Amino acid sequence: MVLIDGKEIATVLKQEIAEEVAQIVASGKKAPHLAAILVGHDGGSETYVAAKVKACEMVGFGSTLIRFEDTVTQEELLRSIRGLNEDSSIDGFIVQLPLPKHISEEKVIESINPKKDVDGFHPVNVGRVVAGMPAFVSATPFGIMELLRRYKIETKGKSCAVIGRSNIVGRPMSILLSQKGVDCTVTLCHSRTKNLKEICLQADIIVAALGMPEFLTGDMVKEGAVVIDVGTTRVASDQTKSGFKLKGDVKFDEVAPKCSYITPVPGGVGPMTIASLLYNTLLSNKHQIYK
Ligand code: GUN
Repeated sequence: MVLIDGKEIATVLKQEIAEEVAQIVASGKKAPHLAAILVGHDGGSETYVAAKVKACEMVGFGSTLIRFEDTVTQEELLRSIRGLNEDSSIDGFIVQLPLPKHISEEKVIESINPKKDVDGFHPVNVGRVVAGMPAFVSATPFGIMELLRRYKIETKGKSCAVIGRSNIVGRPMSILLSQKGVDCTVTLCHSRTKNLKEICLQADIIVAALGMPEFLTGDMVKEGAVVIDVGTTRVASDQTKSGFKLKGDVKFDEVAPKCSYITPVPGGVGPMTIASLLYNTLLSNKHQIYK
């Protein structure tokens, strides 16, 4: 069994990005600049956004953090987004989700200029991914594809079960895995899937992205499978300083011995997500998606 070291691959990817940034700056051009909008004080969102800002510093990007209280109106938020859309010093920006209930995430995402949508959430980018066109690909699926590539995991003709159909992970994952050149045969499973265990038992590759801690158990996985765990549920713990620990969607102790490759939680998919966001911002700076 090979433990897929997402932390290590993310470090390599960030080093590659930092080298490109140094070249961009040396040639007299402006370093990439990522902005993030954070609404409210959700613990998880605070942590993620702080990590994104720190990662920007590490690779030599500029960064801007725009904060709003959770009483912000949708119109105020949309005004801020319009400002970022028009600000030529910003290569890309994200609006950290989730948003308060009185704000429509759909409206917010739709108001982002697709050319600056480095999260890859805008319907234009989602559509371009489906059509096999250059696009900003959502960071978590992009990070998983990068892990598969860098570990040289064979995908051609493999059967793949993706569990979870979220717009951010499961659905784009199913599209990327079935793309020409990747060539998996994908079954996209969800809460209404009847024979989930049978589908998983036949799968060469399983991507667990449903957000239910330790959902995938040893009896659902065939010998030699590749298992990618996207789960990051926070559960209370008195063993950590923060008072919680991250639990994946995979019952690791049962599943790992059966796998050829598996991602741990933490240290698997998670670290790749931020590296992928930086990569998208670099692509935007270089006008590589939208010429
Ligand atoms: N909330 C959880 N993950 C993400 C992400 O990748 N991007 C944004 N904008 N919000 C999130």
